[in-house]
Amino acid sequence: MRKLNVALVGLGFGLSFLPIYLDHPDVGGVSVFDTDETLLRTVRETYPAVRIRNSFQEILEDKEVDAVHLVTPIPLHADQTVSVLEHGKHCACTVPMATSLEDLARICGAVRASGKTYMMMETTLYTYQFLYVKDLLDSGKLGRIQFLRGSHYQDMRNWPDYWMGLPPMWYGTHAIAPMRVLAGARICRVNGFGSGTMDPALHAQYGNPFPVESAVFTFENGLRGEATRSLFETARTYQEGLFVYGSDMSFEWGLRDGDDPFITTLRPFPDDRRGADTPVEQLVMPNRFDLLPEPIQKYTVAAGSFDPQNPQRSLKEHRGGGHHGSHPHLVHEFVTSILEDRRPVIDEHLGANITGAGICAHLSALRDGEPVTVPEF
Ligand SMILES: NC(=O)c1ccc[n+]([C@@H]2O[C@H](COP(=O)([O-])OP(=O)(O)OC[C@H]3O[C@@H](n4cnc5c(N)ncnc54)[C@H](O)[C@@H]3O)[C@@H](O)[C@H]2O)c1
Repeated sequence: MRKLNVALVGLGFGLSFLPIYLDHPDVGGVSVFDTDETLLRTVRETYPAVRIRNSFQEILEDKEVDAVHLVTPIPLHADQTVSVLEHGKHCACTVPMATSLEDLARICGAVRASGKTYMMMETTLYTYQFLYVKDLLDSGKLGRIQFLRGSHYQDMRNWPDYWMGLPPMWYGTHAIAPMRVLAGARICRVNGFGSGTMDPALHAQYGNPFPVESAVFTFENGLRGEATRSLFETARTYQEGLFVYGSDMSFEWGLRDGDDPFITTLRPFPDDRRGADTPVEQLVMPNRFDLLPEPIQKYTVAAGSFDPQNPQRSLKEHRGGGHHGSHPHLVHEFVTSILEDRRPVIDEHLGANITGAGICAHLSALRDGEPVTVPEF
């Protein structure tokens, strides 16, 4: 099989993907670009095999680059994605896909026109927790999903300027995506609410007055899920949580992001006592390194701590690599979907539904919960 030449653009968070591309057996050359020359120098010294580029344009015009992975600041995502596709290259982009419904439509149009692959690199869809819940659902152990909940609490003080005052649900993807995929149906409507007050200086950039937003999403199959998102002046420990309530079993994230989740089983008592028994256990998640080619399995846990003889123990001890082991799975899905000429799991339709539902949740919050229809992309 031929190998894919990949370019990585944006080397803050993006840098964590570089060694994974370098080690992926189906990747040929890797080139990078960042506007920060210090970062480029560091890459040159640490990874001599990587080709350093002097501009984004140089990457776009390089006929040898097949695919570009964007990990740049949020306001650049839409324009850069469209440029990559218009230059006839496959594109992966970190979240959110865009921050307006118009830009989501523009990206979907560019995918259609180019015939190239688009993938939204949503980490929460490849965490070891999500993979575990998906297995519970697919095996029938969870029963019927009755309700879903997602959360993303993070304090953004001193982050780059574009974050200041960001409408919480514009970056609601980590809370929304797992619910959307487990529900197995498009999000068609949302009722969103804003809450709390924050420094008026934070209102200026986006006209957003809310430090916290919560929304109820309606799925086309009638299911509902709630997501809560906080960014500023809210004392809650970091968590990108998933909560799934099934007719037979439920899954609830731990209090802190790295805590082990709680699994509850609904077990009718043998006699005719009221209610049912609901035993709860706290479980260490299995490491799904088995879904990956051997050279990148080690990236499912923190750098240097993967023990190939005992991959489960290394996860228990080190709590998984970036975003709960998701990074190598994202790279693998992007690369193999292109080489196998199939749609990636998180294609432009799914990415736009997840991101668009968040954009609509903020619109609804500005109208005090009025229902907003999520457009079909
Ligand atoms: N779990 C996740 O999926 C997750 C986690 C963290 C960040 N993110 C996303 O990743 C992106 C990057 O996050 P970050 O924290 O590294 O952001 P950042 O703003 O700190 O860094 C972005 C990098 O892009 C570079 N850059 C800026 N303009 C550029 C341009 N025109 N061309 C090339 N490079 C440019 C900057 O120099 C910087 O190194 C954001 O969009 C964020 O939403 C996603």
